[in-house]
Amino acid sequence: MNSYNCISNDVKLGENVKLSKFINLYGCEIGKETKIGAFVEIQKNASVGSRCKISSHSFICEGVCIEDNVFIGHGVMFINDSYPRATAQDGSLQTEADWKVERTVIRKGASIGSGVTILPNISVGENAIVGAGSVVTKDVPSNAIVAGNPARVLRFIELRAHHSDSDPVPFLDLVTPHLELESELVGVFRRGLQTAGFVGGSMVEEFEKAFAGFCDAGHCVAVNSGTDALRFALMAAGVQPGDVVLTVPNTFIATTEAISQAGATPEFVDINEHTSNMSVERLQHCLETSCGRDSHGRLISLRSGRRVSAVVPVHLYGQMADMDPILRLANQYGLIVVEDACQAHGAEYFSRDLNRWMKAGSMGRAAAFSFYPGKNLGACGEGGAVTTNDGELAGTVKMLRDHGQSKKYYHDIEGYNGRLDAIQAGLLHVKLPHLARWNAQRRDRAADYKRLLADNEAINIPYEPSWSRSVYHLYVIRSRDREGMIDHLKAAGIGTGIHYPIPLHLQKAYASLNYERGAFPVAERVSAEIVSLPMFPQLTVEQQSRVVREVVAFTSNSLQETVR
Ligand SMILES: Cc1ncc(COP(=O)(O)O)c(C=O)c1O
Repeated sequence: MNSYNCISNDVKLGENVKLSKFINLYGCEIGKETKIGAFVEIQKNASVGSRCKISSHSFICEGVCIEDNVFIGHGVMFINDSYPRATAQDGSLQTEADWKVERTVIRKGASIGSGVTILPNISVGENAIVGAGSVVTKDVPSNAIVAGNPARVLRFIELRAHHSDSDPVPFLDLVTPHLELESELVGVFRRGLQTAGFVGGSMVEEFEKAFAGFCDAGHCVAVNSGTDALRFALMAAGVQPGDVVLTVPNTFIATTEAISQAGATPEFVDINEHTSNMSVERLQHCLETSCGRDSHGRLISLRSGRRVSAVVPVHLYGQMADMDPILRLANQYGLIVVEDACQAHGAEYFSRDLNRWMKAGSMGRAAAFSFYPGKNLGACGEGGAVTTNDGELAGTVKMLRDHGQSKKYYHDIEGYNGRLDAIQAGLLHVKLPHLARWNAQRRDRAADYKRLLADNEAINIPYEPSWSRSVYHLYVIRSRDREGMIDHLKAAGIGTGIHYPIPLHLQKAYASLNYERGAFPVAERVSAEIVSLPMFPQLTVEQQSRVVREVVAFTSNSLQETVR
């Protein structure tokens, strides 16, 4: 103790700690170069990291752990017992033994504004900012800016890391968004462990409600994959074994697997050259010339003689198919429409028929979403969902996902084990509020790609009609020398993908469908030219400039070679 400060012998002070006057420290640990202002008290078993600034009049109680580089404003108050009492039940004064110390952690680089109160058992994430005067009642995610009583997330700090010109640019970064939300995601695991409610229950129901709302759909039924979502949606909508379901050949095989697993057979319709989605003209042509009526007046496929019962437009790469005319044709021919929205969480379509913007998942009889990790809304594992405005259909999907049960051990139909894990539902629910922002960031990056590449005559960039708001699950350009471009980008450390290199009608798995090469010329031509460039919400401007620079370098080299 000196004339102004009260510092007990058990305090561990790092090198160059700077202390003001009237400080009270006991049993705590302070890291090097930290500055502590006047009238600060730090209690036993509390720790403060290196290079922190603790402003005057703050109270840091037992159980608080402040990591390095943290700023604590004036008069910040920590609390470490959720249920403090002065007296015991018999009226005697409580002792230290009655005090139940709970831990609070302030992670690296966070800033806590003046006058903040932080309740016990809280974690404030890395680099987060808590606005002055807030009352923090639950965990604050990393990089979040929160304020108010109770403190709520206002926005997130843009993480624009500086990359050097030689750093690789990944095709997809799945690590950063999970680090941003780490403390909340870990909280879901904790809640799962504490309740052991691993299958079904409130975490699933709460997510279903929120996702139905996000899609402007009446119902959402969460299932264990996008493939099962599509299979269950088709079955619940009335597709029967032996039917034909029309779809496009340039989709992921899961679309046609789901059709086959529902007992039906896929038949294909070519795509629109500009949007890469189902061509309305080809669908109409198919219905008029490749289909006929059987003796009962039912629509049949002339290739197979089977009943055609449904059409599955795929909202490929995050852009919705031209739904108005597809729905009109389906209506005219009595077809069920199930949207494959597995790549299109949040995509929008301006319906000229309804005169308003519509969300993916709200237009067909039902829609299927995938929550595979790389999707715009991805689980930390497998997941999917069916959305629909038809309550009865939703009820059937609920039975299909759960062994056909209408209630426990009452199996009205034979179903499947197709439920979404409760922990995955909880994790998706943490991510869902960020989806609109992530989609907006993807759209910003797509707008930059367009601005920087639109004049390049050696490539085609994605076409977004005025009626579409794509969520750019993938950013797919076309190049005549696709392999050359991929090799060039790979040599420059830039990741790419091909979605998808072989149209489904030419896959071995579908040899029995007997489609010839040339059957779907647009899908075949496009599949030989497409390259998916890096596209994810956290793609930085610098990373994107590098991608663009290398695309331009490749196309101008190949142009010179053609001219020579
Ligand atoms: C267009 C499309 N349909 C269906 C699926 C199937 O989803 P999942 O992988 O969740 O089964 C995917 C996912 O990759 C997809 O991209």
